[in-house]
This record gives sequence, C-alpha cells and structure tokens, in this order.
Amino acid sequence: MQDRIFYRRAVNHDSVHLLACALAGLAGAVAGASLVRRSRSSGFEPNRHTQLAQLNDTPARRYYTGFNPQRAIAISDLRAMSHKRLPRFALEYLEGGAEDEAAMLRERRAFANWRFMPRTLVDVSHRSLATNILGRPAAMPLVISPTGLNGILHVHGDRLLAQAALHADVPFVQSTMSNDTMEEVARAAPGVRHWWQLYVFGGDEIWQELLRRADRVGCEALVLTTNAQIFGDREWQRRNQIGKGRLSASAALESLTHPLWFVENPLSHGLPSFANIIDFVPKDQRSFFAASNWVRAHQPASLSWDTVAKIRERWKKPFILKGILCPDDVRRAVDSGVDGIVLSSHGGRQLDWTISPLDLLPFARKIVGEKTALYISGGVRRGTDLLKACALGADAVWVGRAPLYGLCAAGAAGAVRALEILQAEARNAMGLLGVSHVDDLGPHLLAQTGRVA
Ligand SMILES: Cc1cc2nc3c(=O)[nH]c(=O)nc-3n(C[C@H](O)[C@H](O)[C@H](O)COP(=O)(O)O)c2cc1C
Repeated sequence: MQDRIFYRRAVNHDSVHLLACALAGLAGAVAGASLVRRSRSSGFEPNRHTQLAQLNDTPARRYYTGFNPQRAIAISDLRAMSHKRLPRFALEYLEGGAEDEAAMLRERRAFANWRFMPRTLVDVSHRSLATNILGRPAAMPLVISPTGLNGILHVHGDRLLAQAALHADVPFVQSTMSNDTMEEVARAAPGVRHWWQLYVFGGDEIWQELLRRADRVGCEALVLTTNAQIFGDREWQRRNQIGKGRLSASAALESLTHPLWFVENPLSHGLPSFANIIDFVPKDQRSFFAASNWVRAHQPASLSWDTVAKIRERWKKPFILKGILCPDDVRRAVDSGVDGIVLSSHGGRQLDWTISPLDLLPFARKIVGEKTALYISGGVRRGTDLLKACALGADAVWVGRAPLYGLCAAGAAGAVRALEILQAEARNAMGLLGVSHVDDLGPHLLAQTGRVA
C-alpha cells in the first residue's frame, strides 16, 4: 500500500514528458528506426570490460540472457541480461565512465597485472570467507557500494539491494542520490547493516539534517564521498539529454523498444524521485533529471578537510572517506581520525586517467597500518578480484556495478545471485590457491605480471 502511494506520487511531469517524447518520436518512425538500429549496433559488447583472455573470442562465448537469475553462471551473464532489458540511456548510465573511460578500463585491467602463485598440497577442506567489517562479523569481505538513481534501473532498486545485502550478510551503503527513503530501506530490510553515503550540497543544514535522519534510522556508518564535488564529464549523458533537464526524443523513443523495462518502470510507476533530498530542491527543479542536475550544480567545490573535521565532530559512529587516490591524502585521512578509507575513482566516472584503486592499494596499506580500515572500489567482477584485493591489503571490496547488473537482470533475486556468484567464485579460488581463511591471504601469493620477486 505504502509502495503504491509512494510511486503514484512519483508519476510526475517527467514520466508524462518521457511518454510524450516517445510518442512524438514514434511519428518519425522511419528515421527513428534507423536511429535505433544504429544506436544498438554501436552498443556495449557484453565482454568489453570483463573478459581479458578469451583466445580471440573463438569460439564466441554465449551469455545467458533469459529471465532466471539462477541460470546466470558469472557476473557476465547478469550483465548480458541487463543489457537486454535496459533502454540505452539507462544502460549508458549504468556502464559509462567519464570522457575516454580510461580510468574505468584501468580499474578492470589492473587486476590482470597480478597473478597468483598458488600453494599446493594444503588441506583446504574447511574454507571460509567470513571476516570482520568495522569490527562486526560479515559473511565475506564485500560491501555493496553506494549508487545513485537505482530507481531508474529497477523500481525500488535501493530496497532490493538492501535486501540482497541482508541475505548475503554484508553491509549496504545507500547513496544520497537514492530513490527510496532511508526509512523505507530500513523497514524493507530490517537488520541490514545500513550505511549512509553523503554528498555535501547546499548549506550545512542539509548534511546536518541528513546525518540526524541517518542516525535515527539506525545507520551504522557514514561515508563521505570526496571526489564528486565537481561532476565528471560523462559525455554520453549530455548526448542523451536536451538542455539540462530532459531526455532527448531519440533516447525516449529508444526506451520504447524495451517494453518490459518501460511497462515495469516509468509506465507503471513514473520516474522515481530523489526521495531523501527532494525537499531541499526548489519546487520548479524537482523533476527527475532537473533535480539531479540541480544537486550537482549545488555541490560546493570548497569541500575540504575542514568539512571532514566538522562532520567528524558531529557523527559519533564509524566515519569513512570514499574517493581517495593519492598517498598524501591517505596519510591525511588517517590523521583526520576517520575509521575507514575507500580508494575509489567513483567507478571511473569522475576524473578520467586516474590510477586504479588496486594500483594504489599496496602503498596505501603501508601508510594506513592496521589502525584504519582500508577498502577498494572499482572493477570487481570475479571472486579472484576479491582475493587479489584482500591479498594486497584491502579489508573488503566495495562493489558497484556487479550487484547492479543483478538488480537490472532480475530485481532482488538477481542482486542476491550476483553476490552468490562472487562468493562462490572466491571460495572456490581460495581452495585452488591453497588458502582456507581471508586472514591467510597476502602479497606472498601474488606476482606482478612478468616479475617473480
Ligand atoms: C551507476 C552508478 C552510480 C553511482 N553512484 C554513486 C553515488 O551515488 N555515490 C558514490 O559515492 N558512488 C557512486 N558510484 C560509484 C560506486 O559507489 C563504486 O565506487 C563504483 O561503481 C565501483 O566500481 P564498479 O562499478 O566497477 O564496482 C556509482 C557508480 C555507478 C556505476
């Protein structure tokens, strides 16, 4: 009931606009059809980022693209399923990086630079990925990273991801740009380790109010994203929008060629709203695209270590900085008294041509010591990625797109499946690596490509 009310309210101006654009586009069907054909053929290849060594793609690999998430064997299958379901503008939002997407590609490729040196003749009959995250037990060293606009990918995306996290016994980080309220998420996944990710925008009273709410709702930790005050140049997004707040007619038309997504999302529920922050947005800017652009335009470029100190002062529970990629900032973060650091380039969506979090990880671990939790976020698509990150010093990996592929493919069941796949792969690879516990992972099990020290 509550759900219905929420979404009926959200059937706004935007969805009417989407529908109107789509119908207008239909009138130009001939031109439209050729446009759609072109946009599809230049779309993402399912193996563009995930497959690194497939013998020149012969025979060409097939991915599962049906409806049953249990039949997804790897994250690539969930990815292929979501490619089939999503309209192009949403798919580009999910997959895209900034400018040439060099940072994003590096995140994936950095994992290929490290190779295992497996131990053999080790009894690995009792293996466990169980670990501690912020001092509390978790089933594996993994956190669902914050992602905004989940509601455009799947109705109630935030709640469903939280439920998947609860099922997998790992923390879920909810974005400031999420579409379900934090209270709804807490109700939908009672007992989930719920963390709140903060974007600072507008005046101080806004983040102060969000902190009060996050505390009230039982959020266990606060994550301040530090590298998104200036918005990365995501060219695909500008191509999909007209002006500042509208989807182009061709993008709206293309969305009609994904009837399942169209019917289940904008047609039935309207476009989602930024439920946690919409009250802070001026009334004439509250439509979906306009609100997101407004928030971006009001994120102060003056965010600094002083802001970190002010937030640290107010938030008494664990406090984590996300978006650090420079050794000096790792040091500064430790000195600022935060409880955790996430090395992250925002999935390659902010500054292009950055090093990858994995590249910095071994150095960052040396700086941090054991005092502060150290996480990486970016490029994790395999259980072996998780093991490499932990071996190089990460306390956990924060995954963004992997569970989102599952969410787009099949809602909560798909997100659960994504986490199951990563866990099963990591557990299996641990056995092959000759390791039984996460704590036994270390750099002694890895060599950089071409170098054995
Ligand atoms: C669609 C999408 C939306 C994102 N939104 C946010 C966000 O609202 N806040 C944030 O701190 N990071 C955001 N990120 C970055 C993720 O938290 C995460 O760091 C990144 O996706 C990691 O890379 P991966 O997708 O390769 O796992 C977003 C990433 C994606 C792909």
